[in-house]
Amino acid sequence: MTDIIPFDKREGFLWYNGEFVNWQDAKVHVLNHGLHYASCVFEGERVYNKKIFKNKEHAARLHYSANELGFKVPYTIEDLIKFKDQTVLKQKIDDGYMRVFAWRGSEKMAISAQNNKIHVAIACWPWPPYYSAEARKKGLRLKIAKYRRPSPQTAPTSAKAAGLYMICTISKHEAENQGYNDALMLDYRGYLAEATGANLFIIMKNNEIHTPIADCFLNGITRQTIIELAKKREYKIIERHIMPEELSNAKDAFLTGSAAEITRISEIDDKYNFNEPSEITLQLMNDYNDLVRQ
Ligand SMILES: Cc1ncc(COP(=O)(O)O)c(C=O)c1O
Repeated sequence: MTDIIPFDKREGFLWYNGEFVNWQDAKVHVLNHGLHYASCVFEGERVYNKKIFKNKEHAARLHYSANELGFKVPYTIEDLIKFKDQTVLKQKIDDGYMRVFAWRGSEKMAISAQNNKIHVAIACWPWPPYYSAEARKKGLRLKIAKYRRPSPQTAPTSAKAAGLYMICTISKHEAENQGYNDALMLDYRGYLAEATGANLFIIMKNNEIHTPIADCFLNGITRQTIIELAKKREYKIIERHIMPEELSNAKDAFLTGSAAEITRISEIDDKYNFNEPSEITLQLMNDYNDLVRQ
């Protein structure tokens, strides 16, 4: 394994509440609401050739997610776009990853924190692919997780909110500890949902592309982009509820996400094997690569 510099030990600058600060000085007090009660929303974005892919869509989603948690990001979408671009320049990033996040501060440490200050930070760094080169080459091995994506009546499932990731980390750790690359999560009804940080697409044996309806998990910006690209190619793409057993009618599958980009799956739950990448997957990978670097 390559040595990774811990994130609090890196050099450079972070945008923090309206100004650039030295990376290692971007600190919070341990008594903050975001940490204790998960009142934190965030975005993960990619920079290609110095340009943030879907900059505006990510800024808008941050606003949306904060609203779902009952707070307002104290900067407009236009301002966020500008600050994000400035951060890419300040950090001198050609190809990288960006985190934008907003959280309730420390004024009150109780479940109710109506008037806590909303903090915002933007960090950008050069980032290798999300999955290892070996996993990407061979395709991911996924294990179906014990935990399920909750109903929209249980949590604000359409938000990109820190609290929703608790079951993702538990599930991914369990999968990794058993030798898999990631966990695949079902939803509260037992339908296929998504991986712990990426959406799912399946290529059926009849060449239709099927993807779960995003009605209780994040409707990824990459997912939406892939649906558009597939339609442009006139592939038949169907959003529907899919039971895990239906994977026996699939010949290929992949995950999508800003971090994961398009990553092939080679095996799900030891039962479903996809040995060869399909033409459709390879074409969509090419189309996506072209689009993000346009
Ligand atoms: C749980 C989850 N689902 C899906 C996605 C994909 O979303 P996007 O394509 O907007 O990055 C992500 C990544 O952010 C995620 O964390």
